[in-house]
Amino acid sequence: MTQFNETQLTAAVVKSFEDTPNPRTKFLLEELVKSLHDYVRRTDLTFEEWDYAIGFLTRTGQKCTDIRQEFILLSDVLGVSMLVDAVNHRDREGATETTVLGPFYVGEHKVTPHGTDISAKLPGERMFVQSRVTDINGKPLANVPVDVWHADDDGFYDSQKPTYAIQGPSSRARFITDADGRFYFRTILPCSYPIPTDGPVGEMIIQTRRHAMRPAHVHFLVVAPGYQPLITHVFMDGDKYLDSDVVFGVKDELVAKVEKRSDATMPDGKPAAEPWHLMTYEFRMKPGSGIVPAPLGTKLSEDA
Ligand code: BEZ
Ligand code: FE
Repeated sequence: MTQFNETQLTAAVVKSFEDTPNPRTKFLLEELVKSLHDYVRRTDLTFEEWDYAIGFLTRTGQKCTDIRQEFILLSDVLGVSMLVDAVNHRDREGATETTVLGPFYVGEHKVTPHGTDISAKLPGERMFVQSRVTDINGKPLANVPVDVWHADDDGFYDSQKPTYAIQGPSSRARFITDADGRFYFRTILPCSYPIPTDGPVGEMIIQTRRHAMRPAHVHFLVVAPGYQPLITHVFMDGDKYLDSDVVFGVKDELVAKVEKRSDATMPDGKPAAEPWHLMTYEFRMKPGSGIVPAPLGTKLSEDA
């Protein structure tokens, strides 16, 4: 019979993976075990604490649905999502900075004509977004799909509302860049909002006296063949949560000055009924490839 002390136990578990055929899987499991065992030793983890952690992770899984991903949220608030992002995007070489995908990349992003108001039915201050997709040398990239999504004036995404299954997407669409790499649309000014706090992640945020807020932003996912998929946000300059984003997702370069305008027409020549805001931002794509995330709940909206 083999009996292990604290350190021998780690070596024995690491050794148990020695026949794993895939070397990367073997490495990841070995390192995971070493880090977890280290954590238990360094903290002198009690049975009660270990039991709480198991319960917490169980509830995190139970909170997930087709359109709610509590594990992504957990990864986000622990800074793991931004760390994975950082180690995978060490050298941007002039390409646009990346940030978290977040849990609200859901449902259908319908191809939508340029200029469309994607928040037409929603109250809020009106905003015109004009943008362009280029490579790192400024060469325009035509025919590129760009998914956009953002929260409404109350800080909620469409998918968080009970009416989502019936009413379908709002403040969410796909635009295809024109021959000059450009796309533009109308929407409302997004506002800062709290991440969902009605689950175990929220419980942790509240118990640790952190705030749950994200600074106002619009999400963009740009997928061009021959380039790394770009997952990013554009943040509104001046937001009071820019320095304390609950998911650590802000980068200086992603903060845009959104101008307040009172011109009678918007940049596409159409009339503006009231004062409006102008967001201008260009995305520079890095050559390469990568995994394109699938929206959560795509199947759900197909069924609907
Ligand atoms: C979001 O921006 O949609 C988001 C990102 C991370 C956690 C929660 C929300
Ligand atoms: Fe968001």
